[in-house]
Amino acid sequence: MSDQAEKLRNRIKRQMNGNPSKTIAIISGKGGVGKSNFALNFSISLSKHQKKVLLFDLDIGMGNIDLLLGKSAEKTIANFFTDECSLDEIIQKTDYIDYIAGGFGLNHVIKLSGGRVDNLLLELGHIVYEYDYLIFDIGAGITDELVQLLSSIENIVVVVTPEPTSIMDAYSTMKIISLHVPTVKFFLLGNRMKNEKENKQVMKRLQTVMNSFLNKDSVIIGFLPEDSSISLAVKKQIPFILYKPNSFASKQVQLITSFFLTANTFISIENERNFIEKLKHFLIRK
Ligand SMILES: Nc1ncnc2c1ncn2[C@@H]1O[C@H](COP(=O)(O)OP(=O)(O)OP(=O)(O)O)[C@@H](O)[C@H]1O
Ligand SMILES: [Mg+2]
Repeated sequence: MSDQAEKLRNRIKRQMNGNPSKTIAIISGKGGVGKSNFALNFSISLSKHQKKVLLFDLDIGMGNIDLLLGKSAEKTIANFFTDECSLDEIIQKTDYIDYIAGGFGLNHVIKLSGGRVDNLLLELGHIVYEYDYLIFDIGAGITDELVQLLSSIENIVVVVTPEPTSIMDAYSTMKIISLHVPTVKFFLLGNRMKNEKENKQVMKRLQTVMNSFLNKDSVIIGFLPEDSSISLAVKKQIPFILYKPNSFASKQVQLITSFFLTANTFISIENERNFIEKLKHFLIRK
């Protein structure tokens, strides 16, 4: 049997037996708080539990999963639109995870290539059966389009540092999202925290205002410490969970991974149609 036919047969088999992927978006209010680092290390950590993970770099302005991995993607999401590549062709394989690299100026490309959007939705409909998890690394700041996109993902990790600006911006961002997507589930992650005590203080404050002003529950999933080996790993272009697997930060990522692997409060997509339908609204904007 040809490679192509074999692939198709396997794909159909998986669709008949399989469950669609779980989808998680990593967001923040303020930029530069550690989203991409967490998204990447968390994805690798999931893959170490035999989960098949696709990390989608949707930091459209300046995707940088590539840089953090020390790789240079041959193709990015932009090639899907400009060169009519298939998703299979742009998915980059690594030892642990697969990823789709962010294309510079993707927003612009999407607007120009309406015809390709249908293909993207069609192909994503298959992709959701190929992976256990789809993780989306989202750029900072919130736009109407992003709210639409997040409404199709629903499980949202919000990264917050102890700086008051980061806390305020996280609150404003969650407010906007929850007003538009009432079913959204927020998972709060502290980053660059001194210790557990500081994390608790910050997160409790955030949880309390979320509860009293928005009547919205959120789940505290843990924290990563301020750790110079994280910035060193970034400079060395090696994910910190591989660079220092026994560091406190890596162990915290493992704890958070266990949380997600066993979480029963997790929203899973009932079928791919739900996810794809909502994505359609995001991509096909008037
Ligand atoms: N826990 C930490 N300890 C020390 N340094 C950290 C930590 N987390 C992140 N950093 C530093 O912050 C930088 C920014 O992190 P990252 O690129 O993950 O942020 P981001 O939220 O994705 O940014 P952007 O909003 O631009 O996409 C990293 O390059 C790293 O040097
Ligand atoms: Mg980033």
